[in-house]
Amino acid sequence: MGARPLIIDCDPGQDDAIALLMAIASAEEFDLLGVTAVAGNVPLAKTEANARRVRDLAGWPELPVYAGCPRPMVRTPVTAEAVHGPSGIDGADLPEPSRTAEEVHAVEFLVQTLAEAPSSVTLATLGPLTNVALAIIKNPSILDNVAEIVAMGGAIGLGNVTPAAEFNIYADPHAAHVVFEAGVPLTMVGLDVTRQAIATPARIEAIRSLETAPAAAVCGMLVYYGAQTTTKYRHGPPLHDPCVIAHLLKPELFEGREMRVAIELAGEHCQGRTVCDVHGRSGAPNARVLERVDADGFFALLTERLARLPVATP
Ligand code: RIB
Ligand code: CA
Repeated sequence: MGARPLIIDCDPGQDDAIALLMAIASAEEFDLLGVTAVAGNVPLAKTEANARRVRDLAGWPELPVYAGCPRPMVRTPVTAEAVHGPSGIDGADLPEPSRTAEEVHAVEFLVQTLAEAPSSVTLATLGPLTNVALAIIKNPSILDNVAEIVAMGGAIGLGNVTPAAEFNIYADPHAAHVVFEAGVPLTMVGLDVTRQAIATPARIEAIRSLETAPAAAVCGMLVYYGAQTTTKYRHGPPLHDPCVIAHLLKPELFEGREMRVAIELAGEHCQGRTVCDVHGRSGAPNARVLERVDADGFFALLTERLARLPVATP
């Protein structure tokens, strides 16, 4: 099977950065058409610059990066510097990007690329869904050319930014509603599964032993990210976004169920909750919700892919 056309939408974010590295290292499986950045963990100006820093680190400075929406559709913007640091990728210590982002807005890139793509395109979303939702609203016919969407977001159980909601959905629930109701094949990579992918000290040391610039940056980010989240995760930080790329590479590492997922838009305490109908009583499924991952297999895959990246940043 040829490489699948892929667009990654992200808000780097340490875990986004690691997911991007993993995808860039997988050139046999992915024809990466571009990376779109959205406001999320940190403001857009930082997420898009971080995406450009990561492409340099991966040795692919020509990979096109498109800046997208600087704020959610309706709600007031929220960010997550308390978790990711003021830069969004604290711990990485990367130089300024080697070249600018593309002129075209990310939403326009999504619309144009999906409208003109010779074969259907997979969307991997790692942040709030604002860019993807607005592309769908602008030109709904692009959905005919979307093979599937694999989205990090939501949870069957407890959230992380509130007891009810996970950050990517909470940050733009209206955009999430548009995407979850779009009617295209959707895999929800929620906290239930990503909280099983914990970067323990042993797993971090296995990455460090690669002794490459990308591996060193990943370890720096994981140590920082872990220090911010270790109060919630016993042995280290959860690798939320890389689970999306791992699922595209080796879906057999994961288990999940088809179910209807509704996005709570109102509610004083529950806005942004993904209401997952595990009992199948509220209508036809609109998502495959992942629930389990072979964590050792996930980290073996991540480490093997990181090993493929250039030893030193050119
Ligand atoms: O809740 C985790 C998600 O929110 C991850 O994508 C992380 O990068 C942040 O965007
Ligand atoms: Ca993210």
